[in-house]
Amino acid sequence: MEKEITKTDDKNKYYLWGRHYHKLQYFDKAIANYTKAIAEEPYNSESYFNRGLAYIAKKEYDKATEDINKAIELGTDFPEAHHALGNIYDQKQDFARAREEYNKAIELSSKQEKLHEEHEITLEEHKPAKEFELLEKPDVNFSDVAGLKNTKEMINEAIIYPIKKPELAEKYGKTVGGGVIFYGPPGCGKTYIGKATAGESNASFLNVKISDVMDMYVGNTEKNIHNIFETARNNTPAIIFFDEIDGVGGRRDATQQSFEKRAINQFLTEMDGVEYSNEGILIVGSTNAPWYLDPALRRAGRFSKFIYFPEPDKKTREEIFKIHMREKPIDKKIRFGRLARLTEGYSTADIKEVCDEASAIPWKEALEGGRERKITMKDFLQAMGKVKSSLPQWYTSVRKFLIKEEEEVESRGEYKGGVIVVKHKRAQEELISEGERELFKDLIKDVSKQTSTNHRILRRIRIAFARHIM
Ligand SMILES: Nc1ncnc2c1ncn2[C@@H]1O[C@H](COP(=O)(O)OP(=O)(O)OP(=O)(O)O)[C@@H](O)[C@H]1O
Ligand SMILES: [Mg+2]
Repeated sequence: MEKEITKTDDKNKYYLWGRHYHKLQYFDKAIANYTKAIAEEPYNSESYFNRGLAYIAKKEYDKATEDINKAIELGTDFPEAHHALGNIYDQKQDFARAREEYNKAIELSSKQEKLHEEHEITLEEHKPAKEFELLEKPDVNFSDVAGLKNTKEMINEAIIYPIKKPELAEKYGKTVGGGVIFYGPPGCGKTYIGKATAGESNASFLNVKISDVMDMYVGNTEKNIHNIFETARNNTPAIIFFDEIDGVGGRRDATQQSFEKRAINQFLTEMDGVEYSNEGILIVGSTNAPWYLDPALRRAGRFSKFIYFPEPDKKTREEIFKIHMREKPIDKKIRFGRLARLTEGYSTADIKEVCDEASAIPWKEALEGGRERKITMKDFLQAMGKVKSSLPQWYTSVRKFLIKEEEEVESRGEYKGGVIVVKHKRAQEELISEGERELFKDLIKDVSKQTSTNHRILRRIRIAFARHIM
């Protein structure tokens, strides 16, 4: 490396030193050298790109984004740049944009026969090792889960009993394994209860996010998925929890040549368990948008059970408040039942936020004035003014995917010299199949109910009642 640097001309020197330090993972030094290289040669896209990568390594994502976009602007559009942007969005948890960038990278790289060697080296160094950090032994179980009695019962039957007593289950034709889908509105406990399920049944838990399987290099996505299944096979009983499975298992016809398409084919191969045994492995897919799932995933032996996670009902909300306030100094006059009535339409995650907000008020006061006091009802009311319920809006936004609306159309025609207008209703195209309608019937029922004008008015009245009259 040293040799390589000394023999090149000055123009390239800083860039090469930059790469040298980059490989040694001295990112600050690398950045300083790339910066000098840029000062000498302001139109060199390589320096910008590499400096961007060094910024990614330092988790300075805004600077990284700026550099990588600059590199794209200066050079030709190259796949590695989009892969790097994908990485950044992954880190920022903006998975939709991450996916978009990864797909762009795949599209571009399939057009090019060979990737630039330069980039390959640097990107390889940025590849995180994935398999090991995935495996967990959760320390939460069903006693930490508030409410959701029916859901727990379904999980007991579908997952926990077969894992705990496999012989008995087998005798009566219930095998451990296969797939279950958890679906429902966001923030209502799918991930949390997935974890508690593993804790309850003493199984290993592999929490896989879409970003864990994404990779633009041909074959790597498949390899990642295979590794996840292999890790589970070596740690049975195990639950593989795929978050946002609609991203991996999205309908295959939606995009051509996409990451998703390759991912799902590998997924199906692994799930079919022809080459490998999947005994003792349960695959849980979690989604807010089950209507995006590829129907192939639902065929027999794959994801055959769907478990709905509804928004927390009054009883559950009350328990969630109690769980979250368990160890906090609360005023004796706090009525949990009233808090539950005040938070109709709040997801579990929203309620957690309300609790955090409410607790922060006396805490900040104590920091400023030094006097400590208990958390009061008034603090909760103030917190609810800040943290609004997120579910009504969610129901409205998904309604169009699930419920056939009748739209009003006008036909105009001439009649005896005049114009005649006929208004009639026309049903929109069928959005999901009959089978899906049956499968998601609980969700559809809720969406339909929650978005009806009647219900919305009544909800407001109930909340106002709890707020002002009690
Ligand atoms: N039944 C419950 N009892 C106690 N706490 C809960 C319960 N359900 C959820 N929580 C809490 O609410 C938070 C949000 O839940 P979680 O992340 O599981 O939602 P989710 O359905 O996976 O959301 P998303 O669809 O956005 O991934 C969790 O951090 C957890 O602490
Ligand atoms: Mg989740």
